[in-house]
Amino acid sequence: MSQPLTFGMVGGGRDAFIGAVHRMAAQLDAQARFVAGALSSTPEKAVASGGDLGLAADRNYRTWEEMLDHESRRPPAERIDFVSIVTPNHAHFEPALAFVRAGFHVVLDKPMVLNSTQADELVAAVDKVGVVFGVTYNYTGYPMVKQAAAMVRDGAIGPVRKVFAHYRQGWLATRLESTGQKQAGWRTDPARAGAGAVGDIGSHAENLVSTITGLTLHSLCADVSTFVPGRAIDDDASVLLRFAGGAKGVLTCSQVCVGHENDLAIRVCGEKGTLSWRQEHPNHLEFTPMGAATRVLTRAGPDAGPAAAAATRIPSGHPEGFIEAFANVYRGVIEAVRAQREGRKPAGLATQFPTVRDGARGVRFVERVLESGRAGGRWLTLE
Ligand SMILES: NC(=O)c1ccc[n+]([C@@H]2O[C@H](COP(=O)([O-])OP(=O)(O)OC[C@H]3O[C@@H](n4cnc5c(N)ncnc54)[C@H](O)[C@@H]3O)[C@@H](O)[C@H]2O)c1
Repeated sequence: MSQPLTFGMVGGGRDAFIGAVHRMAAQLDAQARFVAGALSSTPEKAVASGGDLGLAADRNYRTWEEMLDHESRRPPAERIDFVSIVTPNHAHFEPALAFVRAGFHVVLDKPMVLNSTQADELVAAVDKVGVVFGVTYNYTGYPMVKQAAAMVRDGAIGPVRKVFAHYRQGWLATRLESTGQKQAGWRTDPARAGAGAVGDIGSHAENLVSTITGLTLHSLCADVSTFVPGRAIDDDASVLLRFAGGAKGVLTCSQVCVGHENDLAIRVCGEKGTLSWRQEHPNHLEFTPMGAATRVLTRAGPDAGPAAAAATRIPSGHPEGFIEAFANVYRGVIEAVRAQREGRKPAGLATQFPTVRDGARGVRFVERVLESGRAGGRWLTLE
């Protein structure tokens, strides 16, 4: 019987958003246990937050440096197996690099780091040490996203010609950051966020395009805007994409579209058919073969193949959602850690979670979009 792995967390304390989701996702399949943390930016709040969650006093740390130091000194069998880093963007690089260098497996949220210099350094460190490193582009964990990727790979729509992807939100349509709202505060501060809408949600759309189509982005041209007066960062972008091999695409991201919640969607048009998926209705995938009516494939339904089935927990018609998809990223990471430990070749979900290289590609995408925008929409290559 395999024991659950143990993990610690950096960030995700009282009033934080995504840390709690990570804890649910990591533990959904009872394959991991949350045992340590440095959960907040101040020592007092970190310890109070760990207390709320029942951490043992000797593993409820004041800072991530203290957690790294103490966990490293524990006997190997009693250390955390991996760490989840869920801090604002500016506080990703240092702890991620330090935990990797100390030999801990890492899960880090997106956008991975602030610039491609940091991204390259992290990739090099992960390669050198050989730890498992997952980046929570969680939308790739949805069964019907896996189904779409498998259908593209198996030729169901033929060679891809055109891709449309968007991620629209409306929650930053006003200057929410001036009200003291915590998540809006750091997300609109260039020093802590790095990029605005492009980094926060455009990066998810880029990853979804790459995951489903398997295409390599060759170049892009961007129109980047800040609509809300007084805001110091981008809140909207429209990007034209050219892929290696000739396919083209349009990616838009915006946080000022009133009424849109988490409207992430993708449409992939090939020579023989089209696939269409929306995050707000994630259990459905539309498939339109050439010359035939649109079919709606359902998760765990009759047309769902093995890729979707491997990422599914409950029967069709009972909705699975955000947490389950997030948990599929964790299942992949956990299985990859076990495979490495036992000298097995990873398979299934352990080969599908977004890695440090996906993270680095995302960072480069964000950088190029902003650069193109600043240059008035110049075409730039991605190499
Ligand atoms: N994958 C997704 O769908 C998704 C969704 C939301 C956020 N995110 C990403 O997750 C990260 C966190 O976002 P959020 O909305 O949860 O932010 P948040 O502001 O709600 O929470 C951040 C937490 O990090 C803590 N923190 C800050 N600096 C720290 C430090 N040095 N040491 C320890 N803790 C520290 C804060 O005290 C807080 O508890 C961001 O990178 C964001 O882009 C990803």
